[in-house]
Parts: sequence; C-alpha cells; structure tokens
Amino acid sequence: MKRIFGIVLVLLLAMGSFAFAQQKTLVLYGSAEPRIVEKLAQGFEEATGVKVKWIRMSSGETLARLRAEKENPQADVWWGGTLDPHSIAALEGLTVPYKPKTWDQLDPRFRDPIGGQRVIGVYVGVLGLAVNEGVLKSMGLPIPKGWNDLTNPAYKGLIGMANPNTSGTALTMLATQVFLRGEEGAFEYMKKLHRNIANYTKSGVAPSILAGRGEIAIAVAFLHDVIYEIQEGYPLKAIAPVEGTGYEIGGLNLIKGAPHPELGKKFMDWVTTAKAQESMATVGSYQLPTNKFAKVPSVAIPIDSVKTVNYDFKWVAENGVRLQDRWTREVFTLPR
Ligand code: F6P
Repeated sequence: MKRIFGIVLVLLLAMGSFAFAQQKTLVLYGSAEPRIVEKLAQGFEEATGVKVKWIRMSSGETLARLRAEKENPQADVWWGGTLDPHSIAALEGLTVPYKPKTWDQLDPRFRDPIGGQRVIGVYVGVLGLAVNEGVLKSMGLPIPKGWNDLTNPAYKGLIGMANPNTSGTALTMLATQVFLRGEEGAFEYMKKLHRNIANYTKSGVAPSILAGRGEIAIAVAFLHDVIYEIQEGYPLKAIAPVEGTGYEIGGLNLIKGAPHPELGKKFMDWVTTAKAQESMATVGSYQLPTNKFAKVPSVAIPIDSVKTVNYDFKWVAENGVRLQDRWTREVFTLPR
C-alpha cells in the first residue's frame, strides 16, 4: 500500500512539474541577431520569472517555419525581423492581432504599419551599403554612391546580398527597387546586379560580415548592422544610397494557436516597453526604438536624416510572396 502510494505521489509530482513547465515556458521565435534575441529573452525572464525558450531564424525562414507548423504551432510569439514576412504571415492567418498595453507609448508612424494591430512595429532601421574601401582601393575601383553604381561590371563577384526568400533584409532591398523604379524596372535592375553578386546568403547580416573580412567589397545591409560591425573593428563604411533607400520596421506578432497565448501577450507588453527597447543597444543593436520614451542610441541613424523611398508596407504585405517567386524564377536562376 505504501509502495502504491509512493508511486502515485511520484506520478502526481511529475505531472505537476510538467504542467508547471508547460505553463511557465514561453517559446519565442526571434529574427534579429542572436545576441539581441538572447538579451530580450533574459530581460523578460528577469522581469517576470517566466522561462523563455528562444530560437533565432531569419525573417523569411521564420515565416516558412510558421507555415510548416500551421496545424500544430510550436511557438507563442515572433519578435524581430523585418515587417514584411510578419505581414505576410498575418495575411495568411498564421498570427492574431494583439494590442500591447504600451500602445499609447508607441510612435504612431511605426506601431501599426498594416493596420488592425496585425503586426506591431518594434524598431526602425535604414537599408544601405557596407563598403570595404580598402578592398576597392587596392583594386583601383571607385567607391559606390548608390544602387545604380552597383551594376558597374567592374564589381563582378565583389557584391554580396542575401536571398529575399529567406532574408527580410533582402526582401526590403527588392521592394525598395520596386518603389524606386517600378516593378519592371526593378527586375531589370536585379538581373544586372545579379551578374555582380558573389553569393546570396541566407541571413541578411552575413554579406556585411563577408565585406568586413575582405572576402567581398560591397554588401547590401541595414546600416545599424554596419555600425555595429565597424565598432567590432571591421574596416567598413556605411553608405546611404544617393537615389533614396528603403527601411524596415521590425515586427512583433502573436502566433495563432500559440501553446501559451497569455505568455505571448505578456511578452509583447514587456518587449515594447522603453526599458526593453533601450536594453537592445547594450548588445550593439542600434535600430531606432518605436517606444517614444526609449532613449535613442547615440550612433543610431535618424530616419529623417536619410532620403527614403515611399516604402508601402501594405503593398509589400500583399505582393511580397509574388515578388519572391518572380525573383527566384527570373533572377536567381540566371547564370552569373
Ligand atoms: O538584427 C539585425 C537585423 O538587421 C534586424 O534589424 C532585421 O530585422 C533582421 O536583422 C533581418 O534579418 P534577416 O535579413 O536575416 O531576415
């Protein structure tokens, strides 16, 4: 009898701790750099006592994962990465709207880019070029001033960008060309640029690291990432293209059918506070915060200081998948 009682007790304890773990562990998909996702996961754990299991994937990779998990969602919340794949996920019914408690503190220009609180804007970053001047000088090549210069045949094999299917950075770049030149002009441009591309990486940050190491000379990158790499000692220059450029709004989304929606909402409330947004700069994440009360990192590039295209986030939400497919068919498959 004593033995049976003991077994039952052990089982009950095991079930209890399992349920506790289930209840207490937030599953977070993060699409900014791993050091940033880790910082926020730790900050949330400290602030709330809720354990966080986090996984970092590029923006497009996370979208692919949510699609694959649609029938059996594994994560609660998706923080970071460019808005466009978040918006596509929202339109595909993979996420649900949520209005965080910080709503009134968030800059109205960036907090709800496609409307209906379907994706919450958490940071802003300007797209541009990372240039290794030393490499170009040693080859007697000019420093590019903008997008148009990149099709110069002299740069063949010297430019890196990510793949717009996996990387939000690269999808921002592709959409930027559409807003600059119209869709047909954009694809003509991407085909010419393709001849100069050394390789298409999975993640958006990778090309500027390659440029920093001198493996290539020019990378398409978000300028806040280039600033971080310069601080890390890479010999890079951050250039805002003269023709005008695109920008990202970092996304935040509650996943539909999340195992722990209450924890997901709690995280969304916390991660949009001034304190959480400010903590990002402590690990070299220099996007502009969307919480009006968050201190702006001194090295951040104010969006108003750069000539930007009229980046239409709703249009990209509706046309992004078509652009990705078209790019794969008409550009990626071309010989270089
Ligand atoms: O974390 C740096 C960062 O540039 C973010 O600002 C951006 O949202 C994200 O990476 C994009 O990453 P990817 O292009 O790999 O999707």
